[in-house]
Amino acid sequence: MRESSHLSSVTPLAGSGLRLAVSRGNETPAARPVAVDASRGAAPEAGARVLLYAARTPDDAVVEHLKSRGWRVLVARSAHEIGKLIKPASMCAGIVDMASFAVRDLPGLEASLRQQQVGWIALANPERLADPAVRRLIRHYCFDYVKIPVANATIDYLGGHAYGMVNLCDADLPPDTAGASDDEMVGTCEAMQQLFRTIRKVANTDASVFISGESGTGKELTALAIHERSPRRKAPFVPINCGAIPHHLLQSELFGYERGAFTGANQRKIGRVEAANGGTLFLDEIGDLPMESQASLLRFLQEGKIERLGGHESIPVDVRIISATHVDLEGAMGGGRFRQDLFHRLCVLRVDEPPLRSRGKDIELLAHHILGKFKTDNARKIRGFTPSAIEAMYNYHWPGNVRELINRVRRAIVMAENKLISADDLDLAHFSEQQTMSLTQAREAAEKRAIEVALLRHRGRLNEAASDLGISRVTLYRLMGTHGLRDPSGEERGDGKGAAFGEHEAHE
Ligand SMILES: Nc1ncnc2c1ncn2[C@@H]1O[C@H](COP(=O)(O)OP(=O)(O)OP(=O)(O)O)[C@@H](O)[C@H]1O
Ligand SMILES: [Mg+2]
Repeated sequence: MRESSHLSSVTPLAGSGLRLAVSRGNETPAARPVAVDASRGAAPEAGARVLLYAARTPDDAVVEHLKSRGWRVLVARSAHEIGKLIKPASMCAGIVDMASFAVRDLPGLEASLRQQQVGWIALANPERLADPAVRRLIRHYCFDYVKIPVANATIDYLGGHAYGMVNLCDADLPPDTAGASDDEMVGTCEAMQQLFRTIRKVANTDASVFISGESGTGKELTALAIHERSPRRKAPFVPINCGAIPHHLLQSELFGYERGAFTGANQRKIGRVEAANGGTLFLDEIGDLPMESQASLLRFLQEGKIERLGGHESIPVDVRIISATHVDLEGAMGGGRFRQDLFHRLCVLRVDEPPLRSRGKDIELLAHHILGKFKTDNARKIRGFTPSAIEAMYNYHWPGNVRELINRVRRAIVMAENKLISADDLDLAHFSEQQTMSLTQAREAAEKRAIEVALLRHRGRLNEAASDLGISRVTLYRLMGTHGLRDPSGEERGDGKGAAFGEHEAHE
């Protein structure tokens, strides 16, 4: 895996990118200030930094202030007007006044907030911030938020920041994804930026890392990214899928064997642990490791030595261990299927992969990235996705996460008959019919997603998730039942976690 432009470009968005963005924000703007009001049908001029101000009742003082700072301000009073003002290839900052929009506006707003070209900052009052749907929109689609009343200096700073950020993201947009490498990690949402920061931090240590995440979220890619950024990068990265190797072969696969160790052992074989000497051993699907291998692995982790099967020599091996699983390992330990002492050795540092459905705009970004990567010469005509295909991608639950997205886009490239891939090409036609969703259904869907994200953020800890959501633990537990986020027959676990958290897709 080469040094990923996304990994190294996304991370700075949150770190050094801040400095970049602020300096952009302080630049003296070249163009003359002008405000454009969508409801009056005026067209934006070219050449200045554009800021889209979305508010049902725009504050004239804010508009005047922004103009005085050199922004070309576009005013939109509804989601529809935002849609009219956003231009495909021009990046702009955006301020969305959440406090001025009603709950019924939220589904429409979401479609606008998703637009890749706008770096949104939200304004909100405490009352709106208590609404889980608003919190989710802010988390998924905005670079930052600020409570009303807001100081002019804060608007200047955040507007410049958002403008800088979105222009950095420009590099990730479709035209530039065509030459993307196989191993790049794409992601700009808060959860992925957090993941990139974590990867960099854990890469610098030698401690064991445990990666948890649903199937297809990028666990192996993350393990590789950690290795590639670690001091061990010149030594091998050796993966082994503990679930794919028959149990009776695992011991010899892991630790190797000497000639004559068993019938058919005609020559010495080095095991994967030894092969990773000096580098990183990636134990995938660690939850499938049989008890016998768990004991041997624990012994190796304690002693730093292995013994090949049929051998008598203890061989010192220096490897860094990264392990991963998509199953609930805490549950497996509770059920006696996984050793706690081994888990504590493996999970010195923990990395959680966010599921695709909680990555906001990244879904679209990834889809374009995949399209660019797999578009062959004879599929050059395909330029992107129809609005309903995009809509469907946001509405779909993605149980197979990024891997499923790759498969669907690849299939669509083959199936598409037009320049734009449709929801039907993705086999997601059913999910593009959001207009048939009633407001109650929309609220329910938003509530469910907010709960899922809060539970994921706190790894299923109800108290913290409930406090994030501004509801009591009892209410959260009840809502989890309502939305099928816990096993209806399950007891609440003693560790404060929901009984079946982590198995959402099974209930969909
Ligand atoms: N953030 C990302 N950006 C680009 N590609 C990604 C990203 N995350 C995952 N992928 C791609 O998605 C596919 C699945 O990733 P990976 O194999 O790392 O997932 P996994 O979590 O290990 O899956 P499984 O649980 O099925 O083993 C790979 O082709 C990988 O390159
Ligand atoms: Mg994997």
